Amino acid sequence: MTTLTTPSTSVSTLPGRHSPLIFDAAREIQRKGFLQFLHDEWQRHGDLFRVRIGPRDMILAIHPEHVYHINVGQRDRYDKRESYNIVRELLLGDGVLTATGDAWRRQRKLMSPFFTPRGVEQFMPIMIGDAQQFVARWQTKADRGETVEMLDEMMFVTASIILRSLFTTESDETLLELKDDVETMIQFVSTYQNSPFKLPMWVKVGRNGRYHRARRRVHAYIQSVIAQRRAMPVEHWPDDLLSKLMRARDEETGEAVSDALLRDESITMFFAGHETTARTLTFAWYALARHPEVATRLRAEIDAVPGDRPPTIEDLKRMPYTLQVIKETLRLYPAAPLYARDAVQPDVIGGWRIPAGATVILSPFLTHRHPDFWESPERFDPDRWAPEREAAQHPYAYHPFAAGQRICLGNTFSLFESHVLLAMLARRFTPMLVDAGHQPQLDMAGTLISRNGMAMRIVRRA
Ligand code: HEM
Repeated sequence: MTTLTTPSTSVSTLPGRHSPLIFDAAREIQRKGFLQFLHDEWQRHGDLFRVRIGPRDMILAIHPEHVYHINVGQRDRYDKRESYNIVRELLLGDGVLTATGDAWRRQRKLMSPFFTPRGVEQFMPIMIGDAQQFVARWQTKADRGETVEMLDEMMFVTASIILRSLFTTESDETLLELKDDVETMIQFVSTYQNSPFKLPMWVKVGRNGRYHRARRRVHAYIQSVIAQRRAMPVEHWPDDLLSKLMRARDEETGEAVSDALLRDESITMFFAGHETTARTLTFAWYALARHPEVATRLRAEIDAVPGDRPPTIEDLKRMPYTLQVIKETLRLYPAAPLYARDAVQPDVIGGWRIPAGATVILSPFLTHRHPDFWESPERFDPDRWAPEREAAQHPYAYHPFAAGQRICLGNTFSLFESHVLLAMLARRFTPMLVDAGHQPQLDMAGTLISRNGMAMRIVRRA
């Protein structure tokens, strides 16, 4: 499927889709969803193609060699600029996800130690504690025979885990209010980004008004937590992510993180760190319900290793099949199905000249379905992740967490969390699809969504 061209052809002749009128493409996208739309364009045009819809102009790069080229080989030619402006301005400020250049490098270096496997182990007690409370919640739901929307369930538990990891000492009620406010902000930004007609931000009524009020409360809340800690001796600070960030010092300048940046990083962690994991787990429950043979193997592993007690780090290492199920879920259902890079210098990809200023979109969703790199790509098969088969894969055919220097900072956190939750919940429950033949209609709304939801019943394991 790789596109062959003579060296250095102008991108103006790159095959692709051009819809000068938004409505032409909009109808099609509305009908089939943006991901299916891109999938069809990929089938038509090959691994590098251009999509122009109204004023939007993007180059899609699907081949694993492109993934390597943009994220690693020629990484200095790309950054997160215009494509991230709305998220930067309305939500994450200068947090590590949207920062650029030296500011990004400093923040990433400062935060990386908290997210290594050793760093993440410290959050295990929070993950276990929340999972235990969640087991009690599901026991009640199972006894009542309740139907749940699985995404809401998984959002509930992953939001609690990330908020407790950030602000250990806060009450459940406070954290719930904070969660609602940050989710209002995220929802607003996601809709605003995709809307062709935007109300100016100085209009403070309706949805704009709700966003502004939520933002004010979130900023004031985080500021007050920081102030309370600053008023205490450092040795009395709780040992959570916020304190770790407050204690951290820049290696070269010795400077501490400013209050504004502490706030931006806290919002960034919440934004990046719960919905993605919640969506992954939702699709994992779907896959387990559709593949009973996989569920049986997974439960046999859980029974044999931690059994009824909460898993330890050592247990997780002895539960490779559970991790294979998570990896395969992230292949077929990558929670971040697309991510963007802005060319800051001209480049050449696969013989095509990419001008500075172009927006290049990478797509885990499409690369993970590339038939040259995945046998029967649409089949859910955790055995692809058996060590010898994983070692034979192209290293950039799989990038659910992006790749290279800007790879997801929380990937280990997320894998630990998913591993713990699956182990503790699958041991006790067998969530069943309400409609046994349910087929999720996949689409993109910031993250990978199922347009027709994921209605399930919580059933105690027989
Ligand atoms: C299954 C769960 C997750 C998936 C699929 C995922 C995926 C991604 C992807 C694709 C990116 C690159 C985004 C871009 O370049 O625009 C990213 C970046 C990031 N993620 Fe995750 N993520 C997950 C969980 C988490 C968690 C749990 C945390 C934090 C606790 C987190 C924190 C971050 C941060 C801070 C970045 C920015 C890194 C940088 O630019 O240096 N993520 N993630």
